[in-house]
This record gives sequence, C-alpha cells and structure tokens, in this order.
Amino acid sequence: MDALLALDQGTSSSRAVVFGRDGRILAVAQRELTQHFPQPGWVEHDATEIWAGQRACAQEAVARAGVPIAAIGITNQRETVVLWDRQTGQPLHHALVWQDRRTAAFCDELKQQGHEPRVRALTGLVLDPYFSATKLRWLLDHLPGARARAERGELAFGTVDSWLLWQLSGGAVHATDVSNASRTLLFDIHRGDWSDELLGLFGIPRALLPEVRPSAAAFGVAAEFGAPITGIAGDQQAALFGQAALRPGQAKNTYGTGCFLLMHTGAQAHASTHGLLTTRAAQLGGQAQYALEGSVFVGGAVVQWLRDGLGLIRSSAEVQALAESVPDSGGVMLVPAFAGLGAPHWRADARGAIVGLTRGSGRAHIARAAVESIAFQSAELLQAMQNDGAALTELRVDGGASANDLLMQFQADLLGLPVLRPRVIETTALGAALLAGLGAGVYGSPEEMGSLWQLDRAFEPRMSRDEAGVRLAQWARAVGQVLAG
Ligand code: G3P
Repeated sequence: MDALLALDQGTSSSRAVVFGRDGRILAVAQRELTQHFPQPGWVEHDATEIWAGQRACAQEAVARAGVPIAAIGITNQRETVVLWDRQTGQPLHHALVWQDRRTAAFCDELKQQGHEPRVRALTGLVLDPYFSATKLRWLLDHLPGARARAERGELAFGTVDSWLLWQLSGGAVHATDVSNASRTLLFDIHRGDWSDELLGLFGIPRALLPEVRPSAAAFGVAAEFGAPITGIAGDQQAALFGQAALRPGQAKNTYGTGCFLLMHTGAQAHASTHGLLTTRAAQLGGQAQYALEGSVFVGGAVVQWLRDGLGLIRSSAEVQALAESVPDSGGVMLVPAFAGLGAPHWRADARGAIVGLTRGSGRAHIARAAVESIAFQSAELLQAMQNDGAALTELRVDGGASANDLLMQFQADLLGLPVLRPRVIETTALGAALLAGLGAGVYGSPEEMGSLWQLDRAFEPRMSRDEAGVRLAQWARAVGQVLAG
C-alpha cells in the first residue's frame, strides 16, 4: 500500500490527510488556527502554532491510518510571510497573513510612482498588500536589526510551505515551489527565477530567499514520518491539480476562507485586462505551466463571521438551514469586504457593508445574503474570465463550503453553467498528495491520476438568465456603494 500524506496548512485551520494510492481518504486530522487581529485590517498567525498544529495533525492522521507513508506533499495558504532565524529556527515575529492590509499605503506609493505596469509584466500580479513582498519589507523595516541580519544571511524568509519544509527537514532545506514563489511579487514568472529588479524595488536582500523547485521534486526527508517530501504547491494551484484540471481551459473554484477561481492556460501566460492575475500552476518537470486566477478574499470566512462576529449561528454547519428558512434574502445584500476587495476590483481600502435592510429583515435574511455573497463574488470572477476571452462550459468546485447545496445551486444559477462537485472535496490536500505521488514515482503520469476524479453531483442552472441578470445587477449596485465608500 503506497499511502500519501498531505499537509494542508490553510488560513483557518491545519489539516493532514492520508490518501491511498487510489485517491481514497484513509484518515484526516484537523486543528483550528488562532487568528490575531492586532489592529483593524491587520491579520497575523503564530508561525510556531502553525508548525506545532500541523505536526500534531500529521501525527494523528498517520497513527489513525496505520499504514506506512510513501511520500509527503505540502500545500498551504499562499503569500503569508514567515521570517525566521536560520540558527535557532525561531520566527522573529508573527506571520503576516495574506489578508493583512498594513502595507496598503506603501502599495499606493509604488503605484503613484508608476511601477505597477512593470511589476505586472514580470509577476502577473498587481500592487496590492495581498502579496508577500511588501509584508516582508514591513518586517525588515520594523524589527530592530532585521535588515542588517538579513543582509548577513542570518535570516530566512518563506511562505508557509518553506516554513513547514524547514521544520520537517530539521532545518536542512530552505526551498519552495514555483506556484508559491509566483505569489511573492519577487518572482519573474516568465524566466522562472527571483528577479533582481524586483528585489531592488522592494528592498529585499537575496540572501533571505528560498531555492525554487518544480512542484513535484525531491524537497527533502521528514525523518519523523520516515518519508520523503516530494510535492509542494500553493493551495489553489494544488486544488487545480487535484481537480484534474490539467489542460488549457479547465477551471475550478475553491470555497475556502476565500474563493479562488483558477483556469489552466497550459504553457501560455495569459495577461488579463479585466482584473485577474496570471500565475504559475503546479509544475511537474522543466516546462512552465500557467493559470489565470481570480482571488476573492472573504468566501467561507463570511460564515465564520456570522458565527464568531455576529453570533447568528453556533456552528458553521447551521448556516444552510438558517439561510434556507427564508425563500430569498428579501433584498438584503452583504458585501464582505472585510479585508478590502480583491479581484476584479483591487481596492485595499474597501470595507464591508450590509445594504437593503428593511423592518422585515431578520437573521435568516442576513445569513442568506452572506451565503449568496460567496456566489456573487465568484460570479464576478467568472465574468472577468469570460471578458478575458475564456469560454468555460462547466465549473469544478471544491473546498469546505462546496458541501453547501444551496450555495452550489445558487452558483450554477448565477453562472448559467453546470457546477460539478467531485466526491473528494478535500481537493487541495488531494492535489498535494498526487504531486507527492508523482514526485516519488508512485504514479507514472498525471493522466494516470486524472482518472481518480469522480463526480458526486452536478448542479444544473435552474434560474432564467433574465432573473440572474437582475440579481447580478443588484449585487453590482451593492458593490458600487462599497467602492464609493
Ligand atoms: O491566496 C490565499 C489562499 O492561498 C488562501 O487559501 O484556503 O486558506 O482560503 P485558503
């Protein structure tokens, strides 16, 4: 039995999943991750807790599965910045999370200086606090002595994959994969290397950076689990891979903390003119692979906010029943711009709003509006992709909130496309496991694993296109109010 262990370190939780060679789940373990909000718009994680929690999950899942592990794959929340001491392995500060907006003013400054077109051409990204570079710069500017130590080569920077790899390998390996590197604003996605020009622009010493490798490769050995680490990819690229979306034109939407719609574009980097990103997809050998991406910052996290922020529900699982207790949102629209708005608007300064309240609005209407906001934001991404010339005929979905039938039906209705949910919605973890399996030679080719994808349910659109148009126009008006401040 060639079991594969996937470490899926997400924004809200750390998960470990053991898969059999046939893609079946043998064991799962999960821990929630503490979110720190030191100031409005700031979001931090304790990197020590990330490692401890992820390690405990891995131990638990492996013990539960009770089979030897052939290879390990890592997948992770992308862009989040960890800075640590190479000697002690201790982080210098909390990790600055991708949702953190503290560098918005610096991004604006760079935009005003006219740097955005060049940055976009090299990285496929926009100048937004979402990405790693300005966060790393913030740490170097604010932690006493950090810049000098970085220049002397005493410190290491990594996204969460690098941090976990460093820990798993006992400090032996400082590396990342192309899909994670391409989210830093420091990586030239066309040449496939760190860019000296961008390092200069953001003021980042090269000595901090990890080595970049393909996504299926020999990364190192995790002695504790007696297995090599042979796969790494950012969670959205791993999900694209896990959905067997390996050919140009195939797309998936993942409903996690945020929502991320990615379409594979093969060996071609497609530059968006409608607010989307160009990024590296998971890469197997020497040939670069690209994707077009729409990133929504608050997707499933809006349900967490109903639970923790408003106290409307006791557990996330209650949301579907509450939302279904009313026929519609009664005109209520919730725009969850809690961390600004990502694609296609890119407005770091935007903040959330609930509009259309009447005397008859109740908690169920707000819950329904919250669930619908996830689908509306994803529909905006698909529209942008279509405006960029993509001709999608279906959308594969995954992630925790894709289990919500109400949401998936509404998504199909808005898009006017079939929404396909696979049996395994742990697609991010599956993608990492499959990459690890390819890296370790458990699978001979990606096509071999493509046959592991199995449909659970197809949601066909039921709403008329006129009705969908009316709903989308209502949403556009609500977003317009948010953008107008
Ligand atoms: O780009 C951020 C993304 O990687 C976070 O994913 O699954 O934690 O919402 P998730």
